[in-house]
Amino acid sequence: TQNSQWGGRFSEATDAFVQEFTASVDFDQIMADQDINGSIAHATMLAHVGVLTAAEKDTIIDGLEAIREEIHNGEFEWSVALEDVHMNIEARLTQRIGITGKKLHTGRSRNDQVATDIRLYLRDAVDHILSEIKRLQSGLIDLAEREADTIMPGFTHLQTAQPVTFGHHMLAWNEMLFRDYERLQDCRKRINRMPLGSAALAGTTYPIDRAMTAQLLGFDGICENSLDGVSDRDFAIEFCAASSLIMTHLSRFSEELVLWASAQFNFVDLPDRFCTGSSIMPQKKNPDVPELVRGKTGRVTGHLISLLTLMKSQCLAYNKDNQEDKEPLFDTVQTISNCLRAYADMMPAIEVKKDNMRDAARRGFSTATDLADYLVKKGVPFRDSHEIVGKAVAYGVAQVKDLSEMSLQELRQFSDMISEDVFDVLTLEGSVNARNHLGGTAPSQVRAAAGRARTKLQS
Ligand code: ARG
Repeated sequence: TQNSQWGGRFSEATDAFVQEFTASVDFDQIMADQDINGSIAHATMLAHVGVLTAAEKDTIIDGLEAIREEIHNGEFEWSVALEDVHMNIEARLTQRIGITGKKLHTGRSRNDQVATDIRLYLRDAVDHILSEIKRLQSGLIDLAEREADTIMPGFTHLQTAQPVTFGHHMLAWNEMLFRDYERLQDCRKRINRMPLGSAALAGTTYPIDRAMTAQLLGFDGICENSLDGVSDRDFAIEFCAASSLIMTHLSRFSEELVLWASAQFNFVDLPDRFCTGSSIMPQKKNPDVPELVRGKTGRVTGHLISLLTLMKSQCLAYNKDNQEDKEPLFDTVQTISNCLRAYADMMPAIEVKKDNMRDAARRGFSTATDLADYLVKKGVPFRDSHEIVGKAVAYGVAQVKDLSEMSLQELRQFSDMISEDVFDVLTLEGSVNARNHLGGTAPSQVRAAAGRARTKLQS
C-alpha cells in the first residue's frame, strides 16, 4: 500500500528496505513532546488567524494531549512505515479525531517542523546541562575553599615547577567551566529562534502569525529567512563545539585524577562508589569514572566533526542529509549530561591526601625560583641569580638534598649574598604566601577568589 502521507503521486509502495533505510522514528521519537508542543502552538495560531475554527483547534489539541499520554504510558505504537516522529503523531491524530486531524499540517512542512522540534529539544537540553555545570562548579568551589591552604607541587611538563595550593588548582578548573557555561548561554540565544512558518522553504500562502507561535513556544524570535530557517543547523554545530570543549576540559581533569589516584602520586582518594575492581587482581581499585569521561571526549569531538561534515556542501534549502544531524546531536546531549552528572556527584567526595602532596612538593626543588627571586631582591641580576641557583640545585641533586635542607654554609658556597633570612623563602608556605596578588596561589588569594567565584555562580 502506498504511503498515506504522500502517496498521491506514487504508483508503487516504497521498497521495504528503503523504508527502513530512510526512517528516523527509532531515534527522533525522543522529540515527541516537542513535536506535540509545536503542533499545539501551530494549531492555536491557525485558529487565531482564522485558518482553523476554534472547535477544530480544540479537537486537535485534545487529540494531541491524548497522544502525549499514550506515548508517556508506553502505549503508542511507533511505525517505521510512517518514517519519523512527525508523521507517526500526525497519522495517529487523524486516526483518533478523524478528518480534522488532516488539517493540522496546513501552512507547515516537516522541514520547518523538524527544525523547530530540534531547537525546542536542544533548548531544554542546554538548560539542563547549564544546571549540571553549576552543580559541578559549586562542588569545585567548596573543595577549593576547604583546601585553600593545602600545598601541592605545581607542574609544567609534568615536572615539579613551583608549589601551589590545591584550592588554587581547583579554581583553575572552575574558570574553564565558567567559560564553558558562558559559551553555552551564548549558543542558547541562537538556538532559541523559531523556524516554523518557513514551511517547506519559501514560506506559506496562509496569513500566519509567526510572532504569536514563537511567543507560545517561548522562542526569543523567529528565523528571519525561510530558506535559512529550514536548512540552518549551525546552532547544533555550535552546541557540539561548546560540548567538545567541555569534554576536553573534563578529559584533562580526568587525566589528573587518574594520575593523582595512582600509587605513585597518591594525592587523592576517589570514593569506592566511583571506582571498580579487577576480576583478576585483588588489590585493584580503578578510577573508571574519570577514565570513561576521558574516553567519551573522543566521541563528542567525533560528533562535532560529523555535523560539520554533514553540513559541508549542502545547497539550500532542506536536504534529507539533515536527518543525520539527530543521532550525533542526541548522543552529545546524553554523553555530556552523563559526564557532568558523574563529575558533579563525585566532586564533594574527593578525599585529599595533604601529607603526600606536601611531601611531593618538597621534592624536586620546587622553591628554586623563590631562591632566585630572593637573590634578585638582594641586588643580583636575574640571569645571574638563575645561574647561581642552578648550581645549587645541581649540588642538591648530587647530595640528594632539597634547597631547604641545606645549611647556610652550604648555600653560601654559591653566593655570599645569601643570609639567614633565606629560609623564610625556601619553605613551601613562604613560597605560596609570597604569590599574593590577584590570580596568585597564596591561600588568602584563593579564599578571596573562591568567594568571588561563588558570588558569580549565584548571579
Ligand atoms: N525526518 C526528517 C528529518 O529528520 C524530517 C524532515 C523530512 N522532510 C522531508 N521533506 N523529507 O530531517
